[in-house]
Amino acid sequence: MSAELKIENLRKQFSVGRPAIDDGSFRIEAGEIVVLLGPSGCGKTTTLRCVAGLEHPTDGRISIGHDIVSDPARKLLVPPRLRNVGMVFQSYAVWPHMTVAQNVAYPLKQRKVSSADIESKVAEVLEVVGLGEYAKRPVVSLSGGQMQRVALARSLVYKPQLLLLDEPLSNLDAKLRLRLRDDLRRIIKQTDVTALYVTHDQAEAVVLGDRIGVMRDGKLLQMASSVDLYNRPSDLFVANFTGASNTLGGKVIERNGDYGKVQAPSGQTLTAWMPPSVKAGEAVKIAVRPENVQLGVDATSVPNRFAAKVAAQHYQGVQTIYELSALGGKLEALELGTHPRYADGADVDIVIPPSLCWAFPADEKAVIE
Ligand SMILES: Nc1ncnc2c1ncn2[C@@H]1O[C@H](COP(=O)(O)OP(=O)(O)O)[C@@H](O)[C@H]1O
Ligand SMILES: [Mg+2]
Repeated sequence: MSAELKIENLRKQFSVGRPAIDDGSFRIEAGEIVVLLGPSGCGKTTTLRCVAGLEHPTDGRISIGHDIVSDPARKLLVPPRLRNVGMVFQSYAVWPHMTVAQNVAYPLKQRKVSSADIESKVAEVLEVVGLGEYAKRPVVSLSGGQMQRVALARSLVYKPQLLLLDEPLSNLDAKLRLRLRDDLRRIIKQTDVTALYVTHDQAEAVVLGDRIGVMRDGKLLQMASSVDLYNRPSDLFVANFTGASNTLGGKVIERNGDYGKVQAPSGQTLTAWMPPSVKAGEAVKIAVRPENVQLGVDATSVPNRFAAKVAAQHYQGVQTIYELSALGGKLEALELGTHPRYADGADVDIVIPPSLCWAFPADEKAVIE
């Protein structure tokens, strides 16, 4: 049975440095997949290790299903083997001297499951991960992607109530990574296990997660469905990290409800969505995704229509990236298709829909690249 995971005010302070996890709270429903997304060092692995019981939290509470598994204030700490949690790591962590079936049977043997049951459970889970034909092979004869499927089968075979995955695709080459990424979601959903998955890769997060939590410096900045995250990021870092790579300086002239008028460096004004904290008169950074800059729109009566010039054109076969000069700054725009419509130096009218440009306080931290 899959179980809910609840994390309340979790903190982990190692002996040196700032807290690796700083007051993190979130819930994963039974059967849900949540992805923690963030740059290296933001505290993803530490969070997983605290949930697994491999790391001792400094403060806060972790509950799996109805059981509190960690609560330092009450000196409560359930050991890892009693948490009924499965883990898959970046390294394949398979037993090299065993066959595929022996690897997958291992956790069942440890749990003293009968031989007949072991055989049927191993066969069933190998079918689920697509390795039905490989049971008798030595595990070292498999490819990286197949070894990671073995590791996954081994974590699922004893039906854990919660599955933790720490960048399981990072060691695979690009093609295998895409294959296994799509398969992973299907397998996790098919086995109906609750999953907490961590990665620094936004594309992986979007494909795999029912919801995504973005982390920075030990803090959980926003947790939302991928559609909400991509269309309504809560701050500049979340916007940047999920691909809104364009930023333009500006100043808020007036605010009306969720939107406001912002003066761009060129002196032109545009209408942008803004979070509640942003006030008239304030300096802002406007964030826009390259794929939301619409090129060559004919209609004249639409808001946020501006003249732009193509400063550089980068043809990539299935798409073209344009570096545009517009609004007194630089903007990247993305055009899908194999025939680019604009050459270097061309004049083009652009439209940035107001709901897809976001004005954040100028002092907010962006992603450093
Ligand atoms: N055993 C440890 N001792 C001291 N600091 C650690 C230890 N493990 C992790 N950290 C620190 O905690 C922070 C978060 O690390 P980690 O959870 O591994 O990040 P991520 O998985 O997001 O890359 C980093 O600053 C890291 O240096
Ligand atoms: Mg890590």
